[in-house]
Amino acid sequence: MRIFLAPMEGVIDHHFRTIYGDIGGVDICVSEFLRVNDLPISQKTLLRDCPELSRSGLSTTPNGTPVRVQLLGSNPETLAESAAMAAALGASAIDLNFGCPAKTVNNSKGGAVLLKNPALIGDIVSSVRKAVPSQTPVTAKIRLGFEERNLYLDNANAIAEAGANELCVHARSKADGYKPPAYWQCIAEIVDAISIPVVANGEIWNIKDWQQCKAESACSDFMLGRGLVACPDLALQIKAHNNKIDYQPLGWNDILNLLNRFYYDTKEAYPSRFLGNRVKQWLFYLQMHYPEATPFFEKIKRYKQAHEFEAVLGTDLSA
Ligand SMILES: Cc1cc2nc3c(=O)[nH]c(=O)nc-3n(C[C@H](O)[C@H](O)[C@H](O)COP(=O)(O)O)c2cc1C
Repeated sequence: MRIFLAPMEGVIDHHFRTIYGDIGGVDICVSEFLRVNDLPISQKTLLRDCPELSRSGLSTTPNGTPVRVQLLGSNPETLAESAAMAAALGASAIDLNFGCPAKTVNNSKGGAVLLKNPALIGDIVSSVRKAVPSQTPVTAKIRLGFEERNLYLDNANAIAEAGANELCVHARSKADGYKPPAYWQCIAEIVDAISIPVVANGEIWNIKDWQQCKAESACSDFMLGRGLVACPDLALQIKAHNNKIDYQPLGWNDILNLLNRFYYDTKEAYPSRFLGNRVKQWLFYLQMHYPEATPFFEKIKRYKQAHEFEAVLGTDLSA
């Protein structure tokens, strides 16, 4: 069983991927999407948004977890050129995003809106597959449809026939947004229809959800997004359960140490007016799993100054 850390634009940046690589349980990370329009993406943007590419061409987090480069767009040529550049820089795989629900993205014909057009999805995958060396996997991520949950078998078939090496399915339509439930049974239909590996995604918040997703989707690989942000060792918990190994989940003090690390890791990376925003964002998700996170979030939510954060998070533990 492989567990993927889902791409989450504005949330899971390289700092986060590094921390999750170190926590463990995650086998593969995917970068936030990089938008490709009528010009191929520049090397500078690739290295800025996926700095793991500069790690001696290995494209891994410091602990060695592979990071895939995710591209989003609708132009097969510029996507192919961008993918070739990412592959030349050492991307562990190229992932194509066909699921983003954002209006701005969909209005420029990228993301989930492409789900209405399986032929174009096939063209994109095929162009990208041809442009990158055969040893670099090309993977795709879809939702079950745009307005309706339909065409997912056509899209999955188009992707597989175009030569993709793997498909991840977020088991909701664009119109479903992020609202529960996730329709894991539809993933099982896809597993049945295509012969490349299928990764199940959507609404896995705990071991029970994972068990149900596994049973309904017929998948043995899983991608976790918000559930893993809310519960940083969920991948370890699931694997321990799967392997019948005793495991002591992270307690609130462990989480405080992770928040301390995240604060100091990101402190210099964003303009000072955004100081601590990433920590607040993480705490927002952590509240879903740790009751202690709520009073902590309430306490720091209006903090703007370094001395305020540092008084509650302590000094840099890694220094
Ligand atoms: C804030 C946010 C940003 C996201 N950004 C991306 C992205 O860049 N690329 C992508 O393929 N999916 C993106 N997604 C979708 C997630 O990867 C995932 O498919 C979705 O959250 C469902 O999984 P979950 O229920 O485990 O969170 C994003 C989701 C959220 C909530």
